Amino acid sequence: MIHAICVAGARPNLIKIKPVIDVLESLGAKMTFVHTGQHYDELMSDVFFSDFEMEKPTHFLGVGSGPHGVQTAKVLIALEELFTRDRPDLLVVVGDVNSTMAGALAAVKLGVPVAHIESGLRSFDRTMPEEINRLLTDAVSDLLLTSCRSADEQLLREGIPASKIRFVGNVMIDSLVMLLPRVAASTKPRELGVQERPFVLVTLHRPSNVDAPARLKLLRDNLVELSQQLPVVFPVHPRTRKMLDQAGIGTGARGLVLTEPLSYLDFIALETRAALVVTDSGGIQEETSYLGIPCLTVRPNTERPITITEGTNRLLDPEKESLSAAAQAALQRGRRLGACPIEGWDGHAAARIILALQEKLGV
Ligand code: UD1
Ligand code: UDP
Repeated sequence: MIHAICVAGARPNLIKIKPVIDVLESLGAKMTFVHTGQHYDELMSDVFFSDFEMEKPTHFLGVGSGPHGVQTAKVLIALEELFTRDRPDLLVVVGDVNSTMAGALAAVKLGVPVAHIESGLRSFDRTMPEEINRLLTDAVSDLLLTSCRSADEQLLREGIPASKIRFVGNVMIDSLVMLLPRVAASTKPRELGVQERPFVLVTLHRPSNVDAPARLKLLRDNLVELSQQLPVVFPVHPRTRKMLDQAGIGTGARGLVLTEPLSYLDFIALETRAALVVTDSGGIQEETSYLGIPCLTVRPNTERPITITEGTNRLLDPEKESLSAAAQAALQRGRRLGACPIEGWDGHAAARIILALQEKLGV
């Protein structure tokens, strides 16, 4: 029996990991699930275990928050000890957070094969910590599992042999498809007063949007203006909450409803009903593209261009264009009807991951 270790640490990892764990278990592998503790608040971590009826992790490293070097080093030290002791046959990591990169680095130095889910995405913006994590993780991984064909092409351009690359589709969509049948059970839209009315759903957490008070104020002003057109629901990431509080930026406005971060079930209950989503999240660009909901991404670039060319996403620069005007145009375009046209975004990525693991690593 092979021994596979899955490492996850931040909200988007925890959401993507359930379909992966399920398929590894279906292979009959011994499965160890390590939660690094990069995210630790109940609403950034525990809640996803309830959402997906997922067993508690085998190990919780409890690394917590900190500067990049400290956080990455803590994960690296703890995983090196664990891998040295347990000698797994395979490490599986997802996405582009510090825990992803630290896991891959610890494993490769010990000769543990690494499978990276969501390989090959590039924003070409090295000011983003995630871009550095993506480049480093892909450079040391043995099996690069991609969610879109342009990621395969990018990896080939970077000199990665084709034999290491497998297009499998988007595992985040597997998680979404898994939970969609249960969204009707969420009472959140009613509690927030948007059950019967069109509204805009907002998330913002990128350092480039929230860490500088002037930028954060500009975005607050844009949201306040937008909330005069339509109610705006804004579940606030802890990083953004901290920055709002530290800079003393008020958010009181009649149509602007701030909440704590939401469970995945509550969040997708809102997302599926939203007339428009405004975000800087990676995963939400993908979910809205799958669901056909117009999305404005408050970033100068995206590592997920397929959400623009084949999905419902558009980039927005709030320094040059008013959010309200862009929202008007997006609302007029409205929802895409019919199935998601993006190849491999179909709820079956994890099944294709298994085939790739069997074929490439003989597990
Ligand atoms: C991290 C990822 C980012 C991802 C995001 C998903 C990196 C470099 N960044 O960013 O790619 O999009 O997660 O949400 O890995 N905090 C809490 N409670 C928590 C977690 C964080 O209060 O449970 C606060 C702390 O003040 C912390 C700050 O949020 O310093 C930032 O957390 P951190 O994990 O460093 O980065 P994120 O901005 O969450
Ligand atoms: N999400 C959630 N609750 C929230 C906000 C987002 O469950 O309050 C989900 C969202 O549906 C998506 C994921 O979190 O699946 C995206 O995570 P995040 O934006 O934190 O990270 P990113 O995708 O940008 O790395």
